[in-house]
Amino acid sequence: MLRVMKVTVVQHPLLQHKLTLMRDRETGVKEFRELASEISMLLAYEAMRDLETEPVRLHTPIAEADLPMLSGKKLALVAILRAGLVMTDAVVRLVPAAKIGHLGMYRDPETLEPVAYYSKLPHDIAERRVFLTDPMLATGGSAVAAIDTLKAAGAQSIKLMTILAVPEGIRRVQDAHPDVEIVTAAVDERLNDHGYIVPGLGDAGDRIYGTK
Ligand code: PRP
Ligand code: URA
Repeated sequence: MLRVMKVTVVQHPLLQHKLTLMRDRETGVKEFRELASEISMLLAYEAMRDLETEPVRLHTPIAEADLPMLSGKKLALVAILRAGLVMTDAVVRLVPAAKIGHLGMYRDPETLEPVAYYSKLPHDIAERRVFLTDPMLATGGSAVAAIDTLKAAGAQSIKLMTILAVPEGIRRVQDAHPDVEIVTAAVDERLNDHGYIVPGLGDAGDRIYGTK
């Protein structure tokens, strides 16, 4: 198996500023959701840095020129529900031709293990580059289960985009799926006894949808 084991932490000041605002417990639902969208687009900018392009000949108003256009494999964005949805909704604005998949999963509050309840993926996922989105990589259980499902469906090229991660979750993904690159806005210290990221930003799904 190809061993990539790459983690990219996007340390752009604009993104870090927005992340700090997201972490603030005083930040309300509307602003939290907007910040998550903006950060997702900035993460995508980095995660998609290696997309292939090829020159296309066209006429500008001034001259004829060979200019780069996206080429290569088509894209799929796959959200881990619920919280990953806000990320795919944002990223698809940058890559409107991408197909979108959904994997429903929640963490059992006692065991912290993921419980899968839904799966709908593009039928041609094996031919696409997949960008899997979930704002939180905590124990890593949800991400590993999602990647298992993607691979079982034939996906061969997967990047995980997440807003916050902890070393424990990164290790779990890397141990199970060393070919999957992780792109994140920050790597926090640790998990608390309830499996929440410290300092973190709280429960991402609840803060995005206002369910707490
Ligand atoms: C959160 C988050 C991840 C998962 C991360 O989802 O969005 O999917 O927890 O935790 P893990 O790395 O320990 O698996 P949650 O289970 O709260 O579901 P929700 O998105 O529906 O709120
Ligand atoms: N899921 C969340 O939404 N937040 C955490 O801190 C950990 C898991």
